[in-house]
Amino acid sequence: MRETQPVFFDQKMQAWHVFRYADVERVLSDHTAFSSDQNRFMPEEYRDANPFTLSIIRMDPPRHHQLRRLVSQAFTPRRVAQMEARITEITNALLDQVIAKGEMDVIQDLATPLPITVIAELLGIPTEQREQFKQWSDAFISGDGEATAEDQQASIQAAGSMAAYFTQLFEERRAHPQDDLISALLQAEVDGERLSNEELIGFCVLLLVAGNETTTNLIGNAILCLDEYPESMELLRANRNLVPGALEEALRYHSPVKLLPRWSVSETMIGDQHIEAGQVLLTWIHSANRDETQFPDADQFLIEREPNRHLGFGRGIHFCLGAPLARLEAKIALNAMLDRLPGSWNVPDEPLSLVKNMSTFGVKKLPLV
Ligand code: HEM
Repeated sequence: MRETQPVFFDQKMQAWHVFRYADVERVLSDHTAFSSDQNRFMPEEYRDANPFTLSIIRMDPPRHHQLRRLVSQAFTPRRVAQMEARITEITNALLDQVIAKGEMDVIQDLATPLPITVIAELLGIPTEQREQFKQWSDAFISGDGEATAEDQQASIQAAGSMAAYFTQLFEERRAHPQDDLISALLQAEVDGERLSNEELIGFCVLLLVAGNETTTNLIGNAILCLDEYPESMELLRANRNLVPGALEEALRYHSPVKLLPRWSVSETMIGDQHIEAGQVLLTWIHSANRDETQFPDADQFLIEREPNRHLGFGRGIHFCLGAPLARLEAKIALNAMLDRLPGSWNVPDEPLSLVKNMSTFGVKKLPLV
């Protein structure tokens, strides 16, 4: 498609697909021409049913700018770096169980529980609520574009339950602040303004939803890449300094986020296609990250690729706020696996089932033999 129909109108979806790196990068970088706020272009009855619509990922400036500054005060690189020892501890405890069991499913045993535990601890959610959060988060995600009416209903219910729970937790933290992200969010201020209750909920839900499945998929997809390219695994075992580069390459080669939506603010051209105001654009990260004009040997997984300007964390003002945390978790997980699971890890030669979701890419199970 990049060659033949790089900007393609899909009649069924009533949306433009954008495939080339240069076009995807332009759309994501130009937030004045391409909006993230679907509410601006939706009929009244479809608005605000979902906490995502109130979170920064679906906002345009100036509100996006104000809220990003606010939440950045609480979600600081220092807070993330402070988690390093704890992430290592959680990872090792999970691998202890794997070693005791004598078998491993990367998704179930490490890649799923690690990010959910980390974000729950960062936010300050009590241990006994964490399994419930995983269920809410899964039900919420399963209501996306390809979902059945039943999944959509469950998704709305999960969002409601999460919102009610958070509202109660905010009250508790207002009365008794602790050293956690929720207490920091409640206190963060820009120009004398604080986050509203809805904005706080939107942000917490976004962290749970945007941060968990994506990080699970990064860890799983990295193992898939290494299985496909065993020589990379040898390189990593010989030189651990290559681990961060290998993870960047996994973010390019099998990016956890497949596509990002945008809405055209006014009439414009992309390539030789005329886009009308208010139309949906689906920018394909997966395609852009394999664009030969940007990445020589784009279909090869090369852990020493330099430069690697992949779009796995997006581009522009919405660039992933959790990227340092995701990179840290994945680095610790991969290093711990290399340290503690010597010998070869092979993915069985059976078809793997993919996560059923239009915008993310990962596998449901990843057993190693
Ligand atoms: C935004 C990917 C992990 C929080 C984004 C965007 C992408 C992305 C592509 C841009 C969305 C857009 O432009 O519409 C990923 C991937 C991850 C990951 C691939 C894991 C490998 C995390 C984590 C957190 C997080 C761990 C937090 C705990 C956010 C937030 C935004 C965001 C808050 C919205 C930023 C804004 O709108 O200004 N992420 N993410 N992400 N991500 Fe991540």
